[in-house]
Amino acid sequence: MDRLDIKLWTLASKGHIVPDRSLLKTPDQIAAIKKSAALNTAVLDHVAAHIRAGMSTADIDRLVYDYTTEHGGIPAPLNYEGFPKSVCTSINNVICHGIPDEYEILQEGDIINVDVSTILDGYFSDASRMFAIGEISERSRRILRVTEECVELGLKAARPWGHLGDIAHAINSHAQANGYSVVEEIGGHGIGLEFHEEPFVSYVAPKGTEMVLVPGMMFTIEPMINEGSPDFYIDEDNGWTVYTIDDGLSAQIEYMVLITETGVEVLTK
Ligand code: MF3
Ligand code: CO
Repeated sequence: MDRLDIKLWTLASKGHIVPDRSLLKTPDQIAAIKKSAALNTAVLDHVAAHIRAGMSTADIDRLVYDYTTEHGGIPAPLNYEGFPKSVCTSINNVICHGIPDEYEILQEGDIINVDVSTILDGYFSDASRMFAIGEISERSRRILRVTEECVELGLKAARPWGHLGDIAHAINSHAQANGYSVVEEIGGHGIGLEFHEEPFVSYVAPKGTEMVLVPGMMFTIEPMINEGSPDFYIDEDNGWTVYTIDDGLSAQIEYMVLITETGVEVLTK
Protein backbone atom coordinates (compact mmCIF):
# COMPACT_ATOMS: atom_id res chain seq x y z
CA MET A 1 0.00 0.00 0.00
CA ASP A 2 1.32 3.43 -0.92
CA ARG A 3 0.20 6.79 0.50
CA LEU A 4 -2.63 7.13 -2.03
CA ASP A 5 -3.96 3.64 -1.22
CA ILE A 6 -3.99 4.53 2.47
CA LYS A 7 -5.81 7.82 1.79
CA LEU A 8 -8.40 6.06 -0.39
CA TRP A 9 -8.82 3.23 2.11
CA THR A 10 -9.30 5.73 4.96
CA LEU A 11 -11.97 7.65 3.02
CA ALA A 12 -13.73 4.39 2.11
CA SER A 13 -13.71 3.29 5.74
CA LYS A 14 -15.56 6.54 6.58
CA GLY A 15 -18.29 5.66 4.08
CA HIS A 16 -17.11 7.66 1.07
CA ILE A 17 -17.29 6.19 -2.43
CA VAL A 18 -13.74 6.14 -3.80
CA PRO A 19 -12.50 5.30 -7.30
CA ASP A 20 -10.70 2.08 -8.03
CA ARG A 21 -7.03 2.78 -8.83
CA SER A 22 -7.75 1.64 -12.42
CA LEU A 23 -9.84 4.81 -12.91
CA LEU A 24 -6.84 7.06 -12.15
CA LYS A 25 -4.98 7.79 -15.38
CA THR A 26 -1.19 7.62 -15.52
CA PRO A 27 0.85 10.52 -16.96
CA ASP A 28 1.40 8.54 -20.21
CA GLN A 29 -2.31 7.83 -20.54
CA ILE A 30 -3.15 11.49 -19.83
CA ALA A 31 -0.77 12.64 -22.58
CA ALA A 32 -2.32 10.23 -25.11
CA ILE A 33 -5.91 11.08 -24.11
CA LYS A 34 -5.11 14.80 -24.47
CA LYS A 35 -4.19 14.18 -28.13
CA SER A 36 -7.55 12.50 -28.68
CA ALA A 37 -9.28 15.40 -26.90
CA ALA A 38 -7.48 17.97 -29.07
CA LEU A 39 -8.75 16.24 -32.22
CA ASN A 40 -12.24 16.10 -30.69
CA THR A 41 -12.17 19.89 -30.15
CA ALA A 42 -10.95 20.41 -33.72
CA VAL A 43 -13.88 18.35 -35.03
CA LEU A 44 -16.31 20.51 -33.05
CA ASP A 45 -14.61 23.67 -34.39
CA HIS A 46 -14.98 22.25 -37.92
CA VAL A 47 -18.71 21.70 -37.34
CA ALA A 48 -19.03 25.22 -35.86
CA ALA A 49 -17.45 26.70 -38.99
CA HIS A 50 -19.91 24.98 -41.36
CA ILE A 51 -23.24 24.48 -39.57
CA ARG A 52 -26.07 26.53 -41.11
CA ALA A 53 -29.78 26.54 -41.96
CA GLY A 54 -30.67 24.33 -44.95
CA MET A 55 -28.07 21.67 -44.12
CA SER A 56 -29.22 18.18 -43.07
CA THR A 57 -28.05 16.45 -39.93
CA ALA A 58 -26.56 13.82 -42.31
CA ASP A 59 -24.37 16.67 -43.66
CA ILE A 60 -23.10 17.22 -40.08
CA ASP A 61 -22.42 13.49 -39.84
CA ARG A 62 -20.29 13.66 -43.02
CA LEU A 63 -18.38 16.70 -41.69
CA VAL A 64 -17.56 14.73 -38.53
CA TYR A 65 -16.70 11.44 -40.27
CA ASP A 66 -14.50 13.04 -42.94
CA TYR A 67 -12.60 15.42 -40.63
CA THR A 68 -12.03 12.76 -37.96
CA THR A 69 -10.78 10.07 -40.33
CA GLU A 70 -8.63 12.53 -42.35
CA HIS A 71 -6.86 13.32 -39.06
CA GLY A 72 -6.24 9.68 -38.13
CA GLY A 73 -9.15 9.25 -35.73
CA ILE A 74 -12.30 7.14 -35.57
CA PRO A 75 -15.70 8.58 -34.59
CA ALA A 76 -16.51 6.73 -31.33
CA PRO A 77 -20.31 6.62 -31.84
CA LEU A 78 -20.07 4.78 -35.19
CA ASN A 79 -21.32 1.21 -34.54
CA TYR A 80 -21.15 1.80 -30.77
CA GLU A 81 -23.79 -0.62 -29.42
CA GLY A 82 -25.37 -0.46 -32.86
CA PHE A 83 -25.46 3.36 -33.18
CA PRO A 84 -25.52 3.85 -36.97
CA LYS A 85 -23.79 7.24 -37.40
CA SER A 86 -20.62 9.14 -36.39
CA VAL A 87 -22.20 11.86 -34.23
CA CYS A 88 -25.34 12.58 -32.21
CA THR A 89 -27.44 15.52 -33.43
CA SER A 90 -30.27 16.52 -31.09
CA ILE A 91 -32.64 19.30 -32.19
CA ASN A 92 -35.08 21.35 -30.00
CA ASN A 93 -37.17 18.82 -28.00
CA VAL A 94 -34.64 16.00 -28.51
CA ILE A 95 -32.69 15.58 -25.26
CA CYS A 96 -29.85 13.45 -26.67
CA HIS A 97 -28.86 10.60 -29.03
CA GLY A 98 -30.51 12.09 -32.12
CA ILE A 99 -29.45 10.12 -35.23
CA PRO A 100 -28.31 12.17 -38.27
CA ASP A 101 -30.71 11.86 -41.20
CA GLU A 102 -30.74 13.08 -44.82
CA TYR A 103 -34.34 14.23 -44.41
CA GLU A 104 -33.78 16.25 -41.24
CA ILE A 105 -33.00 19.80 -42.38
CA LEU A 106 -31.78 22.52 -40.01
CA GLN A 107 -34.29 25.38 -39.90
CA GLU A 108 -33.77 28.99 -38.92
CA GLY A 109 -34.72 29.20 -35.21
CA ASP A 110 -33.62 25.66 -34.28
CA ILE A 111 -31.29 24.88 -31.41
CA ILE A 112 -29.15 21.77 -31.84
CA ASN A 113 -26.72 19.79 -29.72
CA VAL A 114 -23.84 18.23 -31.67
CA ASP A 115 -22.16 15.56 -29.53
CA VAL A 116 -18.74 14.53 -30.88
CA SER A 117 -16.71 11.62 -29.52
CA THR A 118 -13.33 10.57 -30.89
CA ILE A 119 -11.00 7.58 -30.71
CA LEU A 120 -7.34 8.39 -31.45
CA ASP A 121 -4.67 5.70 -31.04
CA GLY A 122 -7.20 3.78 -28.93
CA TYR A 123 -7.91 6.66 -26.51
CA PHE A 124 -11.39 8.21 -26.10
CA SER A 125 -12.63 11.78 -25.86
CA ASP A 126 -16.12 13.30 -25.82
CA ALA A 127 -17.70 16.78 -25.81
CA SER A 128 -20.77 18.54 -27.13
CA ARG A 129 -21.87 22.06 -27.99
CA MET A 130 -25.17 23.79 -28.62
CA PHE A 131 -25.62 25.73 -31.84
CA ALA A 132 -28.25 28.34 -32.67
CA ILE A 133 -29.41 28.15 -36.29
CA GLY A 134 -29.85 31.70 -37.53
CA GLU A 135 -32.03 33.98 -35.41
CA ILE A 136 -33.54 32.12 -32.45
CA SER A 137 -36.30 33.07 -30.01
CA GLU A 138 -35.68 34.65 -26.61
CA ARG A 139 -37.02 31.41 -25.11
CA SER A 140 -34.32 29.40 -26.91
CA ARG A 141 -31.58 31.92 -26.12
CA ARG A 142 -32.42 31.67 -22.43
CA ILE A 143 -32.11 27.87 -22.22
CA LEU A 144 -28.76 28.00 -24.09
CA ARG A 145 -27.44 30.69 -21.73
CA VAL A 146 -28.58 28.92 -18.54
CA THR A 147 -27.22 25.55 -19.74
CA GLU A 148 -23.80 27.09 -20.33
CA GLU A 149 -23.94 28.74 -16.90
CA CYS A 150 -24.87 25.37 -15.35
CA VAL A 151 -21.82 23.62 -16.87
CA GLU A 152 -19.48 26.47 -15.89
CA LEU A 153 -20.83 26.45 -12.30
CA GLY A 154 -20.43 22.66 -12.22
CA LEU A 155 -16.83 23.04 -13.36
CA LYS A 156 -16.15 25.65 -10.65
CA ALA A 157 -17.57 23.28 -8.02
CA ALA A 158 -15.12 20.50 -8.99
CA ARG A 159 -11.99 20.22 -6.85
CA PRO A 160 -9.65 17.40 -5.90
CA TRP A 161 -10.90 15.51 -2.83
CA GLY A 162 -14.36 17.04 -3.21
CA HIS A 163 -17.28 14.93 -4.45
CA LEU A 164 -19.14 14.44 -7.72
CA GLY A 165 -22.28 15.56 -5.88
CA ASP A 166 -20.76 19.05 -5.46
CA ILE A 167 -20.84 19.43 -9.25
CA ALA A 168 -24.39 18.08 -9.43
CA HIS A 169 -25.61 20.44 -6.71
CA ALA A 170 -24.14 23.49 -8.46
CA ILE A 171 -25.82 22.47 -11.73
CA ASN A 172 -29.20 21.41 -10.38
CA SER A 173 -29.65 24.43 -8.12
CA HIS A 174 -28.88 26.88 -10.94
CA ALA A 175 -31.23 25.05 -13.33
CA GLN A 176 -34.02 25.03 -10.77
CA ALA A 177 -33.48 28.70 -9.86
CA ASN A 178 -34.17 29.44 -13.53
CA GLY A 179 -37.30 27.28 -13.65
CA TYR A 180 -35.67 24.39 -15.53
CA SER A 181 -35.27 20.71 -14.66
CA VAL A 182 -32.32 18.32 -14.98
CA VAL A 183 -32.69 14.84 -16.49
CA GLU A 184 -32.03 12.27 -13.75
CA GLU A 185 -31.63 8.87 -15.40
CA ILE A 186 -29.12 9.85 -18.10
CA GLY A 187 -25.84 11.35 -16.90
CA GLY A 188 -22.15 11.66 -17.51
CA HIS A 189 -19.46 9.02 -17.34
CA GLY A 190 -15.81 8.28 -16.82
CA ILE A 191 -13.85 8.23 -20.08
CA GLY A 192 -10.37 7.86 -21.55
CA LEU A 193 -9.46 4.21 -21.95
CA GLU A 194 -13.08 3.35 -22.87
CA PHE A 195 -15.98 5.42 -24.22
CA HIS A 196 -18.02 4.93 -21.05
CA GLU A 197 -16.20 4.06 -17.84
CA GLU A 198 -17.21 4.29 -14.21
CA PRO A 199 -18.44 6.37 -12.49
CA PHE A 200 -21.96 7.25 -13.61
CA VAL A 201 -22.10 11.04 -13.14
CA SER A 202 -25.45 12.32 -11.80
CA TYR A 203 -26.37 16.00 -12.07
CA VAL A 204 -29.10 15.81 -9.44
CA ALA A 205 -27.12 14.27 -6.54
CA PRO A 206 -26.74 16.26 -3.29
CA LYS A 207 -23.54 18.11 -2.36
CA GLY A 208 -20.96 15.94 -0.58
CA THR A 209 -22.35 12.68 -2.02
CA GLU A 210 -21.24 10.30 -4.78
CA MET A 211 -17.62 9.49 -5.70
CA VAL A 212 -14.68 11.40 -4.24
CA LEU A 213 -12.77 13.39 -6.92
CA VAL A 214 -9.24 12.02 -6.98
CA PRO A 215 -6.39 13.41 -9.12
CA GLY A 216 -6.16 11.37 -12.33
CA MET A 217 -9.92 10.85 -12.68
CA MET A 218 -11.44 11.80 -16.03
CA PHE A 219 -15.15 12.19 -16.67
CA THR A 220 -17.74 14.27 -18.50
CA ILE A 221 -19.84 17.15 -17.20
CA GLU A 222 -22.87 17.00 -19.50
CA PRO A 223 -26.16 17.93 -17.86
CA MET A 224 -29.35 17.79 -19.91
CA ILE A 225 -31.47 20.81 -19.03
CA ASN A 226 -35.20 20.74 -19.82
CA GLU A 227 -37.64 23.60 -20.05
CA GLY A 228 -40.47 21.59 -18.49
CA SER A 229 -40.56 18.06 -17.11
CA PRO A 230 -37.27 16.13 -16.72
CA ASP A 231 -39.09 13.03 -18.01
CA PHE A 232 -38.49 11.56 -21.44
CA TYR A 233 -39.35 8.77 -23.85
CA ILE A 234 -37.13 6.88 -26.28
CA ASP A 235 -37.95 6.51 -29.99
CA GLU A 236 -39.45 3.04 -30.42
CA ASP A 237 -38.38 2.73 -34.04
CA ASN A 238 -34.67 3.52 -33.74
CA GLY A 239 -34.19 2.65 -30.04
CA TRP A 240 -31.93 5.69 -29.48
CA THR A 241 -33.44 9.14 -29.78
CA VAL A 242 -34.52 10.60 -26.42
CA TYR A 243 -37.38 13.15 -26.50
CA THR A 244 -38.81 15.39 -23.77
CA ILE A 245 -42.12 13.91 -22.57
CA ASP A 246 -43.90 17.28 -22.86
CA ASP A 247 -42.30 18.48 -26.14
CA GLY A 248 -40.45 21.24 -24.23
CA LEU A 249 -37.00 22.36 -25.31
CA SER A 250 -33.90 20.60 -23.99
CA ALA A 251 -30.27 21.74 -24.10
CA GLN A 252 -27.01 20.03 -23.22
CA ILE A 253 -23.37 21.08 -23.15
CA GLU A 254 -20.63 18.54 -22.46
CA TYR A 255 -17.10 19.16 -21.19
CA MET A 256 -14.58 16.36 -20.64
CA VAL A 257 -12.44 17.06 -17.57
CA LEU A 258 -9.39 15.78 -15.69
CA ILE A 259 -9.02 16.14 -11.92
CA THR A 260 -5.48 17.31 -11.14
CA GLU A 261 -3.56 17.74 -7.85
CA THR A 262 -4.53 21.41 -7.77
CA GLY A 263 -7.84 21.71 -9.59
CA VAL A 264 -9.62 20.64 -12.72
CA GLU A 265 -8.56 20.80 -16.36
CA VAL A 266 -10.97 20.89 -19.33
CA LEU A 267 -9.65 18.51 -22.00
CA THR A 268 -12.26 19.10 -24.69
CA LYS A 269 -15.37 21.26 -24.87
N1 MF3 B 1 -21.56 11.07 -26.55
C1 MF3 B 1 -22.57 10.48 -25.71
C2 MF3 B 1 -22.18 10.75 -24.28
O1 MF3 B 1 -21.89 11.85 -23.97
C3 MF3 B 1 -22.68 9.02 -25.97
C4 MF3 B 1 -23.39 8.74 -27.18
S1 MF3 B 1 -23.51 7.04 -27.40
C5 MF3 B 1 -23.88 6.96 -29.02
O2 MF3 B 1 -22.15 9.88 -23.45
F1 MF3 B 1 -23.76 5.75 -29.37
F2 MF3 B 1 -25.10 7.47 -29.17
F3 MF3 B 1 -23.03 7.70 -29.68
CO1 CO C 1 -20.97 12.98 -25.52
